[in-house]
Amino acid sequence: MEFFEVLEKRYSCRSFKDTMVSDELINKILDAGILSPTAVNFQPERIYVCKSKEIIEKLKEASKYTFDAKLIFVIAYDTNISWKRRSDNKEFGMVDAAIVTTNMMNAITALGLGSCFVCSMHQDMVEKILGLPDNIKVLAMLPTGYPNEIKPHNKRKEKNEIVEYR
Ligand SMILES: Cc1cc2nc3c(=O)[nH]c(=O)nc-3n(C[C@H](O)[C@H](O)[C@H](O)COP(=O)(O)O)c2cc1C
Repeated sequence: MEFFEVLEKRYSCRSFKDTMVSDELINKILDAGILSPTAVNFQPERIYVCKSKEIIEKLKEASKYTFDAKLIFVIAYDTNISWKRRSDNKEFGMVDAAIVTTNMMNAITALGLGSCFVCSMHQDMVEKILGLPDNIKVLAMLPTGYPNEIKPHNKRKEKNEIVEYR
């Protein structure tokens, strides 16, 4: 699928078929995430591929937004590795993880699958379910699968409400 077609076709998919996504496609989605740029190329992202019924059931308790998906990617970052800007010590792991999540989401669309960027969750519960140490912080989940229906993405603001030329 052509790049701009992917951007047009991507929408937040919240209903999935029961069919499992193959390991081959999962690997392509992971490649798209790993190819993302990160600050200083520190690559603080950590991606957890959740497929086991047990983990999926637990994730359902941590978020209302897992949409019965059989596959959930959890995207996190390592605060021991992420870049901290010298001038104000601002930490950029969340930005890196958001870029990784976005690239994975677009790859998911390009492969004919659907997903939704989900941050509404009990983050501490998710970190506990996955057994993560304190330095690994979860940003998002991507419930992923074959869409039950194809929908348009939500309406965007007009360009003139968003863009200013200076
Ligand atoms: C940072 C972020 C967090 C989001 N969290 C949730 C969420 O917790 N639950 C949900 O259903 N959708 C979530 N969304 C999806 C947005 O609601 C959706 O992207 C937006 O309404 C635009 O719709 P579209 O993706 O179909 O274009 C999130 C999106 C982003 C970028």
